[in-house]
Amino acid sequence: MKTILVLNGPNLNLLGTREPAVYGAQTLADVKVLCEQACATHGLKLDFRQTNHEGLMVDWLQEAGAAQAAGTLVGAVVNAGAYTHTSVALHDAIKGAGLTVIELHISNVHAREAFRHHSCIAPVAKAVMAGFGVAGYGLAISALAAMA
Ligand code: DQA
Repeated sequence: MKTILVLNGPNLNLLGTREPAVYGAQTLADVKVLCEQACATHGLKLDFRQTNHEGLMVDWLQEAGAAQAAGTLVGAVVNAGAYTHTSVALHDAIKGAGLTVIELHISNVHAREAFRHHSCIAPVAKAVMAGFGVAGYGLAISALAAMA
């Protein structure tokens, strides 16, 4: 059984209490359950992670690229939070590791502040999803599963 990595970056541990008008009332634990259900539907295993640390995201993306190359991982759904807009290191990690990534945002970043319109990840992502709320995680998993 192959795995899908769902990787969440900074401040996503605060889901449920953080700006609920923007990100909704569901917690990260709720999102994990949603992802587990989506993966189970497709006969896939879930590896669900969150960190506030950019370097740890780089480490995990590199490991995921190696797992994909070894045939045990389908790819990753990555919500890099604010690092999306700033991190050349995440761009380089995804590119260097050859990892299949769906960039995901809970909110529609393009309908928000101008500083959220640029993504360092989009040029190295297979696809980009934004604005579906936390339901986007399930949609992104289905899309990745279709590539398995
Ligand atoms: C986010 C959007 C980012 O701009 C923001 O910094 C986040 C969450 C989203 O899921 O909508 O932390 O990635």
